[in-house]
Formats: sequence, C-alpha cells, structure tokens
Amino acid sequence: MGPRTKAAADRLGAAAGRGVSESDLSGSVTAIEDVAVGGILEGIDRDGFWVSPPLVDANSCAQLANLYDSEKQNFRSTINMARYGFGSGEYKYFSAPLPAMVQSLRESLYERLAPVANAWSARCGKEAEWPPRHDELKAQCAAAGQLRPTPLLLRYGPGDFNCLHQDLYGAIHFPLQGILLLDRPGVDFDGGELLLVEQRARRQSKAMVVPIAHCAIAVIPVRERPVQGIRGAALIRVRHGVSPLRGGLRRTLGLIFHDAA
Ligand SMILES: [Fe+2]
Repeated sequence: MGPRTKAAADRLGAAAGRGVSESDLSGSVTAIEDVAVGGILEGIDRDGFWVSPPLVDANSCAQLANLYDSEKQNFRSTINMARYGFGSGEYKYFSAPLPAMVQSLRESLYERLAPVANAWSARCGKEAEWPPRHDELKAQCAAAGQLRPTPLLLRYGPGDFNCLHQDLYGAIHFPLQGILLLDRPGVDFDGGELLLVEQRARRQSKAMVVPIAHCAIAVIPVRERPVQGIRGAALIRVRHGVSPLRGGLRRTLGLIFHDAA
C-alpha cells in the first residue's frame, strides 16, 4: 500500500468510526489523490476552470444522490431557491458531522487544491496562506466564527436553474470549490449546464459552459482568479450558476472548503 493509498484507507477508517457505512469510495479518494496539481493550475489558467475525468465510482455517486431524501438529521437547512430569488430548485446543507463520503471527498480534494491556491497567492505577491490539510483550514474558520459546514446537495428538476452567484460565507474564503455531478447529462437530464461568467476590469463579461461528465468533478474559482497581466497579477472576478433544466433530474454535490459564519 503506497502512502497515498494508506492515507485514503486511514481517512476512510476514521470516517467509518463516525458510523456511516462506506462502499468502495477508497478507489475514488485514491484517484483524487493522484490528480496532478500542475494540471489543475494549467487547466484553470487556460480555460477558467478544470474538469476531472470521472473520478468517483457511479455507485458512490448514486449513494450520495440518495442522501437527498434520507433522514433530516443529515442536513442543517434546506433552501428553496425561488423563495430567496436565487433561482428555482432546492438545495440542502449537510450538518456536522458530515457523512463519511462527503468528508473523505472534501478532505482529499482540498489537499490537491491547497497548492493551487498557494500558487495563486504567490502570483499576487503573498505568502503561502493555505494549510496543506483541510482540518487546519477548518480550525482557522472556527477561530473566525465560521463553524457551520458548507458542503451541500443540490437538486434541479425541469425548469429549475441557479442564478449567477459566489459562495462566500464569511471573511475566510478558500479560492476554489468543487462540484461533483451525480446524474448523467443527456440521459438523466437535459440542459442544466454549469455556467461561469468572468469579469475583467474595464472589459465586458465572458460566459462559459463547463462541460462536466457524470461522476466527474469541476473545479472553479469561488470569487476571483489571478492572471499574469502586463503590470503584474490581475484579478478576474468569477460568478457561477446553472442554466435551466429542459427535463429530468440533475443532482450535484457542492464541495466548498471554508465553513460558514
Ligand atoms: Fe454555488
């Protein structure tokens, strides 16, 4: 067992200790741990986002999707998007402790993204500010009063959509987030594209569709991303949303790494 596989096994062992059954997620966690940081950094510089190949096994994705209708104690709140003017559809924030699968995916993906975030900090002339492990970021959030977990499950039916927004929940915001697609585009649903809109200073907005496959993870900037400009780093503001579903059912797991105030 290599160090990464061992880390995955340890992580899942700890997760099992929280009393939530695990299927075969260890392979998915190992696949995430094997993702090259350089590829994520290059992908976002080139495209504005990075999309993985399918990394999480389909059975685990189905289990995650099925959590949506599981016992209420898995969630701390349910948001009806229309009620708040956020769009149409519904999402639920997980409560602490997170289900083991969500915890494992959040921790393993964070460890690949922290070096990307630190490379961005360096580009802006700042010290490496993001710790290598997620429990350290979680402790920083807690010290700043950001104690509520932010991972969430989103469910879109026909006509549902999500307006352009940013997932900021307090003073601390880790600059990248992940979205795992739990249903099959073109089979389980149509439409419902993940959208990104970039805004550079003194320029018009650029809109992009993020082509995400079933069981794949899209990594997008939370609020902005730094690019090398003529006079040093320039920040591009980023918002994201989901276009209206034309039919079917689309569920995603949102992995935001900072917790909420
Ligand atoms: Fe979002």
